[in-house]
Amino acid sequence: MIQIKNLTKKFDNHKSLDDINLNINIGDSIALMGANGAGKTTLVRSILGFYHTDNGSISIDGLDPIKDRVEVLQKISFVPQLPPPIKLNVYELLEYVSKSSGIEIKTIKQFANELKLNIDENIKKSFFSLSGGMKQKLLIAISLSKKSDIIIYDEPTANLDPKARDDFYRILKQNNDNKVLLFVTHRIEEVQNMTNRKIYMDMGKIVSDEITD
Ligand SMILES: Nc1ncnc2c1ncn2[C@@H]1O[C@H](COP(=O)(O)OP(=O)(O)OP(=O)(O)O)[C@@H](O)[C@H]1O
Ligand SMILES: [Mg+2]
Repeated sequence: MIQIKNLTKKFDNHKSLDDINLNINIGDSIALMGANGAGKTTLVRSILGFYHTDNGSISIDGLDPIKDRVEVLQKISFVPQLPPPIKLNVYELLEYVSKSSGIEIKTIKQFANELKLNIDENIKKSFFSLSGGMKQKLLIAISLSKKSDIIIYDEPTANLDPKARDDFYRILKQNNDNKVLLFVTHRIEEVQNMTNRKIYMDMGKIVSDEITD
């Protein structure tokens, strides 16, 4: 599903990704780990076509994340490490998401409810005025509503309270069959029972890649 060959990405002279080779298949549920600055987010962003890389290639189901950006992004549900600076209010954001991706607002509200975020109570608030955890919950609810083959989460639970974290993992477990799940995390114990492959990065390289069940 995702094939990465000899991928290198430099910022100035620093190699944030250094000759990465990785194949990810349907059914892979990956915990991607490594120290701060190891290159995890850079790898995720490269898969999403946010960066022009310096060397190597990425193929997503045969498509190129930069040349075929629109189709690639349609295949992927993504929640970023830091919420993006969205200037819309919650209503406008939901309208936008529903028009651009065909997701039903009703479905987003259901997932939000399961995460204990009441959308109707917050519908007029601007996205940026939501609390950190509320933003994360809204983005997660949208991502769960989008029926895509690939789910990529970059530390999605960082801002969630313990109850919301449990809710999130429970819902995700019910919705991740026959998909690719790529989960960037520093808390392996949280994702242990929903992942089947552990990948560690260090200094832009993959230093270990093990199947765990
Ligand atoms: N847009 C950018 N411009 C310049 N340098 C960058 C940029 N993005 C990442 N880097 C550098 O690339 C390296 C890897 O960063 P990255 O964000 O991929 O790490 P990470 O593994 O996600 O770390 P964390 O666990 O802290 O999120 C770091 O040295 C970082 O400073
Ligand atoms: Mg990161």
